[in-house]
Amino acid sequence: MSVTVVLGAQWGDEGKGKLVDILSADIDVCARCAGGNNAGHTIVVPIGPEKVPTTFAFHLLPSGLVNPGCTGLIGNGVVVHLPSFFDELDALEKQGLDCNGRLFVSDRAQLVFDFHQIVDGLKEVELGGSSIGTTKKGIGPAYSGKASRSGLRVHHLFDHDTFATKFRKLVDGRFKRYGHFEYDTEGEIERYKKLAERLRPHVIDSVAYIHKAIGNGQRILVEGANALMLDLDFGTYPFVTSSSTTIGGVCTGLGIPPKLIGTTIGVVKAYTTRVGGGPFPSEQLNDVGVHLQEVGREFGTTTGRRRRCGWLDLVVMKHSCLINGYDSLNLTKLDILDDLAEIKIATKYMYEGKALEGFPADLELLAKVDVEYVTMPGWQTPISKLTSYDALPDNCKKYIAFIENFLNTPIEWIGVGPGRESMLHKKTP
Ligand code: GDP
Ligand code: IMO
Ligand code: MG
Repeated sequence: MSVTVVLGAQWGDEGKGKLVDILSADIDVCARCAGGNNAGHTIVVPIGPEKVPTTFAFHLLPSGLVNPGCTGLIGNGVVVHLPSFFDELDALEKQGLDCNGRLFVSDRAQLVFDFHQIVDGLKEVELGGSSIGTTKKGIGPAYSGKASRSGLRVHHLFDHDTFATKFRKLVDGRFKRYGHFEYDTEGEIERYKKLAERLRPHVIDSVAYIHKAIGNGQRILVEGANALMLDLDFGTYPFVTSSSTTIGGVCTGLGIPPKLIGTTIGVVKAYTTRVGGGPFPSEQLNDVGVHLQEVGREFGTTTGRRRRCGWLDLVVMKHSCLINGYDSLNLTKLDILDDLAEIKIATKYMYEGKALEGFPADLELLAKVDVEYVTMPGWQTPISKLTSYDALPDNCKKYIAFIENFLNTPIEWIGVGPGRESMLHKKTP
């Protein structure tokens, strides 16, 4: 089957972009199905005859675009902030990537406007101490508009009068709810007239497009954004994003049936990070957390915020495997654990003497659990220059095997550095 899916298995920033970049070498279409420019996917690729390692940061556009033979598709499930779309496109072109004729956007995708971003910030202020720590990219307000059936979609841009009427109504509604904030409604309407014309060559019926591509035997790669524990249903609600970041979001965000999905790969960091508020049972507010944050250079790609760090949590991962049904995993940033004498892995959440069966929905209950860990010996030797799985130290292989056995899922890819070349492939049965 021609559709491969890459999904984040934890709280985001697992290194999805890097795997997507590697797989895109053999892919025709790289598609985003959910989220918006709240995502931040960093890839490091050798450019030019000198092979200079060059960093690209993708937010809204599919990371597969780095490969010149790959077409980027933004599906109907994505929320699109047009000024950011063009800023990102311009930045890529400036870095030498010609995206002409190979970047398409669904006419059904919802639009994110600046007023959504303002409202995102106002909502966070209202929440005060229990704020979510959103990226303030307007994601929640835009998806709320979609669910309440008042949102504007890409196709609305091309009927300017109707667009203007609906837009004014939307902004008025926000003024009524949040009080008057500074916003040039008429200026925005004019700006979108120009943006619409610039967008026109990119707009397609993405359902027809993707099914035609599949029918023609083209290979499709779906690039997940955000991650399972940020999913609106299965994450640590309400400390989540506002979209379906799981396998279900692939079908609804692109209009493809489950039976067309061939392989689903989960991307899991060798430890855990989280940016923003919300529970994080294996968080290490101690030297270990500081070590992981510093060695792992754990700063958000989108907001620059320091990421919270902790041990790998296999209760989270079991929940993740059940929901997304990964065929295999990409374990990333294993090199960040190189110096540690001991490495812990969370394996159980205990409550009143019993292990919980799954990841709890109720955050009050979650706050009361005791996390149980297993401790494994570290390998205390650098692995970032290694080029094969076989060359990894024994303790490193034991760490990998423990995760595979616990989750009953093979680890097929192992990341040992940020660059394209720093990915080991392990043969799976
Ligand atoms: P994404 O949002 O899941 O695509 O991940 P991010 O790009 O936000 O964060 C992952 C960061 O780790 C990026 O800076 C990557 O360049 C880097 N990275 C990815 N894989 C590895 C790895 O195996 N080792 C190291 N050291 N860095 C990695
Ligand atoms: P990638 O694709 C990490 C987090 C935010 C916040 C919560 C809600 O790079 O893995 P939002 O702006 O979506 O309403 O914020 O979700 N968040 C992410 N954290 N990586 C991401 O994406 C994220 N996308 C959203 O920090 O806690
Ligand atoms: Mg990221």
